[in-house]
Amino acid sequence: MQSDFSIRPLNGREELDLFCSIPYAINHEIHSDLDCGRRRLEWLWVAVQDGRLLGRIGWWTRSAGEPPAVLDIFDISGLDDHAGDALVATAMRAVLPRDGTPPQYLRWLLAPDWREEPAEVREAERRGAALGRFGARPLAERLRFQWDVGAPVPPASTRLTFRPIANREELVDLMTEVVSGTLDAHTIRELTAMTPAEQAASQYENELARYTSSHAWWRIAELPDGRPVGFVIPARNAYHPIIAYIGVLPEFRGHGYVDDILAEGTRVLAGAAVSRIRGATDVGNAPMARAFLRAGYRVLARQLDMVWE
Ligand SMILES: CC(C)(COP(=O)(O)OP(=O)(O)OC[C@H]1O[C@@H](n2cnc3c(N)ncnc32)[C@H](O)[C@@H]1OP(=O)(O)O)[C@@H](O)C(=O)NCCC(=O)NCCS
Repeated sequence: MQSDFSIRPLNGREELDLFCSIPYAINHEIHSDLDCGRRRLEWLWVAVQDGRLLGRIGWWTRSAGEPPAVLDIFDISGLDDHAGDALVATAMRAVLPRDGTPPQYLRWLLAPDWREEPAEVREAERRGAALGRFGARPLAERLRFQWDVGAPVPPASTRLTFRPIANREELVDLMTEVVSGTLDAHTIRELTAMTPAEQAASQYENELARYTSSHAWWRIAELPDGRPVGFVIPARNAYHPIIAYIGVLPEFRGHGYVDDILAEGTRVLAGAAVSRIRGATDVGNAPMARAFLRAGYRVLARQLDMVWE
């Protein structure tokens, strides 16, 4: 490397154009993320030479004042392995708390058939190998879905009825049951470190309760005799209307109830006049992925997730 090569955080907002000179699906969100404190300039690192961006790494968090929650920007295509490792090491040392597990890494891949494209595969492997040298391991490949306004709104269920949740305990109890037999890799991993009740409470507190959209949108699905079958949590995050969570209790699986419940969640948001709805699930959670497709959602992107133990 020549002497003017440097690895450093961004000096100021005026360098955002430089940071975003590598195209990526979420570049356009960075400005408002900085405004809201979900990102900080000192969390956005670059490897530059002669004013050219060769690599970058950046973290995001859910709310201002919190530590980094996700490593979601990482590019090393202009760097050799040695320089890529230097970028990772330097930025991780500066950004992450000394003790504790580094937050998960997630990467969008826009081409749904990215494995057919050798250049995409090569870069994904290089990124994975680089983070692997710092202790990360692949956890899941996910599908990101989108329903667009204009697509048919799925019809209301004829066999389930829906009502708002009575209180936190009711929903957390149902969530505790739903994690049993889940095919979701992040949940399975969490269950190695906590009980289903703890996992449900944690997901409720750290995710669901924090959505600022109306909790009156949340729905419990019931059979005509009043037994709960599952639930759906439509919400709005900082960027999009979303299906935040959906579940069918283990004893009711295999009857296609997910279709009725996802239809209801979609109908709640469509009724709130949204222009799109986002959802995501693991490739390995095939029943959920197929349900999104049946409900008129399309695959927007794939996502590769890595975690540190
Ligand atoms: C994903 C989920 C909602 C599917 O609900 P469902 O109403 O049972 O879905 P379907 O009836 O369409 O199931 C289709 C097939 O997948 C099977 N299946 C559904 N969930 C399954 C699971 N968790 N494990 C193994 N097989 C499952 C069904 O038995 C059925 O099999 P069959 O075709 O041989 O009869 C449910 O499994 C669930 O609540 N999982 C835990 C929470 C979760 O993953 N939510 C999505 C997070 S993004």
